[in-house]
Amino acid sequence: MEVLFNCKLSQLMGGGAVRSLACKCVFLLVAVLILRALLIPPSPGFGGVEWSNLVYINNNPPSFGYGVRQDKFLEVPQIVWGLNNQKIAFARACLTARMLNRTLLMPSLSASLFYKKIDLLQPISFDKVFQFDKFNAMCSGFVHLGLYADLLNRTRVLEMQKGSGRKWTVQRDLDQLRQHSQGEFDDHEVIRIVGKNPFLWHDHWPVKDYAKVFECLVLIDEIGQEADRVVSRIRAIGREIGSNSELVELENDRPSIFQPLPYVAVHMRVEIDWMIHCKKLEQRLNTNQICSSKKEIMERVGNIKGLKTSLVYLAVADKLLQNSSILEGWEEGFLPYEKKKLGVDGIYKKYPYLIQSAIDYEVCLRADIFVGNSFSTFSSLIVLERTQKMIRTGVNNMCGTDVRWPSYAYNIAGESNGPMRWVTNMSHSSLQEISYGTNHISC
Ligand SMILES: *[C@@H]1O[C@H](CO)[C@@H](O)[C@H](O)[C@H]1NC(C)=O
Ligand SMILES: *[C@@H]1O[C@H](CO)[C@@H](O)[C@H](O)[C@H]1NC(C)=O
Ligand SMILES: *[C@@H]1O[C@H](CO)[C@@H](O)[C@H](O)[C@H]1NC(C)=O
Ligand SMILES: *[C@@H]1O[C@H](CO)[C@@H](O)[C@H](O)[C@H]1NC(C)=O
Repeated sequence: MEVLFNCKLSQLMGGGAVRSLACKCVFLLVAVLILRALLIPPSPGFGGVEWSNLVYINNNPPSFGYGVRQDKFLEVPQIVWGLNNQKIAFARACLTARMLNRTLLMPSLSASLFYKKIDLLQPISFDKVFQFDKFNAMCSGFVHLGLYADLLNRTRVLEMQKGSGRKWTVQRDLDQLRQHSQGEFDDHEVIRIVGKNPFLWHDHWPVKDYAKVFECLVLIDEIGQEADRVVSRIRAIGREIGSNSELVELENDRPSIFQPLPYVAVHMRVEIDWMIHCKKLEQRLNTNQICSSKKEIMERVGNIKGLKTSLVYLAVADKLLQNSSILEGWEEGFLPYEKKKLGVDGIYKKYPYLIQSAIDYEVCLRADIFVGNSFSTFSSLIVLERTQKMIRTGVNNMCGTDVRWPSYAYNIAGESNGPMRWVTNMSHSSLQEISYGTNHISC
């Protein structure tokens, strides 16, 4: 749309014959795209379907080599724990397969949180959460997912036993992977990884590679539509309140201009078990920048520069929903909502833990402003994807004031006791730097 805008502008300013020819081409292209959008039923599952198609067409062929072999496979155990841990473990499995130049057999995720008992693991196939074909199309040439039906001979399987504990160093892990990519090891049609759950594998890949895999994870239509419904509900309430003149006046000192309220998603980590965990962590790391009380979060969000009013969506763990105290104590102009108050708790209740979490993730990803805790993996992955979105739009100064999709960490004090601006440093050589929490957040 930016091209279109520049195009109109240059025509208005008398852009000359060449430009107007280029413009005709652009208009033609846009017309084709619109026609295509009308003819092909949209998949509203994901905000940027058309956009990612475009990116895919533009970027794909030159950026990756000849891709991975599709007649050699890697098999991994069921992927477990929370949504973010599962995403990381899945990406790690993909990148391991890439390193071995193999197709990853589509793994099972876990619908429930891991509560020690194996029978509560509730396996759920990857393609019941994310789009399988879309994944392979978007990640084409980089990593590849395969089906068990693609196997020729299930008996030619080599088991690769992963070590664990202190003696199993990063170097040993890497040596094992190198060894298994050569010679007679490599002849096996399938290499099956066995051992402790994949999240504990050592990390050998840069943040950029993880980001590439995450970008290819698109929710299936049914779940994507549920996320759309939640976001639409938030926006509708924002518009409703935005037409209330008193608040609009606060927002821009020009009461006549109608403006929907921006929506701020706050990933509030204030549950008891988190508080116990983070206090210990603070002691160990000798810092006081990890745990934020409810009061501190409200105060810092209220001090975000240039933000006088907003609808605040509180992404909180289910068990907190009964306690309405998180809805009280916000600064004037900041209108807090959680699932129940929005009237969307019914949407969430239909689904197991993993899907609920995936919907909440989308809602945070699309928020005008996101505020999270830099020691939370959930928050960190959201900021990573929001940073990717910014990079795609070609922003120069991602920490600047007028950018779209800004993120903040409420556990670190920034300007005038607001939260600290937060972008992911894509140059890090391993995900470890961002996935286990940090207070070096690049702004
Ligand atoms: C995988 O192997 C194929 C065939 O040997 C090769 O063309 C390709 O470049 C390899 N891909 C990677 C990522 O190493
Ligand atoms: C599968 O591989 C095993 C071991 O190499 C071999 O004995 C068997 O005949 C193969 N089966 C098929 C259907 O190719
Ligand atoms: C809600 O939580 C606060 C502490 O965060 C507690 O003081 C209060 O009693 C709780 N209210 C209910 C209704 O459970
Ligand atoms: C980003 O990470 C790289 C590599 O770890 C480091 O050299 C660089 O200083 C970091 N940049 C910022 C802005 O923190």
